[in-house]
Amino acid sequence: MKAFAVFPQARNYRVITDHPEPRIESAAQIKLRMLEVGICGTDKEIASFLYGDPPAGSDYLVLGHESLGEVVETGSEVSDIAKGDLVVFSVRRPCPHPYCVACRAGRQDFCYTGDFTERGIKGHHGYIAEYVVDDVRYANKVPADLRDIAVLVEPLTIAEKGVIQLWGVQQRLPWACPVDLGESGPPGWCHKALVLGAGPVGLLGAMKMVLEGFETYIYSRISGVQERVDIANAIGAKFIDSDKVGVDEMSKMIGNIDVVYEAVGATKLAFHVLEHLGTNAVFIFTGVPGHRESMSIETGTLLKAMVLKNQILYGTVNAGPQAFHNAIEDLAEFRSRWPDAIRSVITHRIPMESAGEAVSGDLEGIKNVISIS
Ligand code: BGC
Ligand code: ZN
Repeated sequence: MKAFAVFPQARNYRVITDHPEPRIESAAQIKLRMLEVGICGTDKEIASFLYGDPPAGSDYLVLGHESLGEVVETGSEVSDIAKGDLVVFSVRRPCPHPYCVACRAGRQDFCYTGDFTERGIKGHHGYIAEYVVDDVRYANKVPADLRDIAVLVEPLTIAEKGVIQLWGVQQRLPWACPVDLGESGPPGWCHKALVLGAGPVGLLGAMKMVLEGFETYIYSRISGVQERVDIANAIGAKFIDSDKVGVDEMSKMIGNIDVVYEAVGATKLAFHVLEHLGTNAVFIFTGVPGHRESMSIETGTLLKAMVLKNQILYGTVNAGPQAFHNAIEDLAEFRSRWPDAIRSVITHRIPMESAGEAVSGDLEGIKNVISIS
């Protein structure tokens, strides 16, 4: 069958037509006809041969981890998912070690050993293929009426996992309104979230922050990305142009920054913003820097602020079942609140034959999607 594959040794990528069609081999598996697969920065890095590992014994890796498929066959023990259902598979598969308590508990997003695999990324073929088979426990069922946006479930799980942890860690204090509101907002709506970056992870993260009741700001460059500013406006987030407004000025505009949701992987920006993190606040890192970067920071001030302001910093990767569940629910909510904005996050749908343009970065836009069937 057809699949889109990256050959790291030969340093190329192309559609292959002889990838073996997978078959159901155990009673707990399901087979999907793939409908759509989203392309993200990780895919671009893999297609630049900076990241990603083919499965053992293969000279290529089938790309794609942001999936949406339709069930065409189910194993004999599968009861809660049926032919015709829409499914988004999770990405990460557990490591084999008995002592990895995270993987043994089905939380391979917290794997200790690093020996997990990730479909389309690390040691396991991905989803840009005509058919895919996997264990039903990695399947997340999606309502049929979300068909046109369900490919956004996986990138949204990044924010969902981040926010689950956010509410978890903030149980440490009476997290009502730590901010002197002044005239600046309706009563009760005083938590302020700052999203760094206006890519798909940033925009979906901003939608989630708005949904959670945060007064939400997006800090990114405006030039050339008017459609992203339109999305920010539509969801009620305030877009601050990073080309015109410096970090210090931006932080004065916002006031106490309760949460930073970092979605670019730009270290200089992140650590500069960290200097302006508010009291009792949380800094969530989701971006993976693509290259080495160094800077000098005033560590004394930073450390002092962390202690005297009770700050928490954490990174978050991949996602667990609850995050997928929440993403599916929230996508439906986004669509009912902001139908045009959520649809316009998907800027191009292109055939598998053109996937090369999406992974090389030649195709502009926010979220580009490969349409498979
Ligand atoms: C994916 C995650 C994955 C991470 C690191 C991201 O693009 O969305 O599922 O864990 O890359 O490989
Ligand atoms: Zn991704």
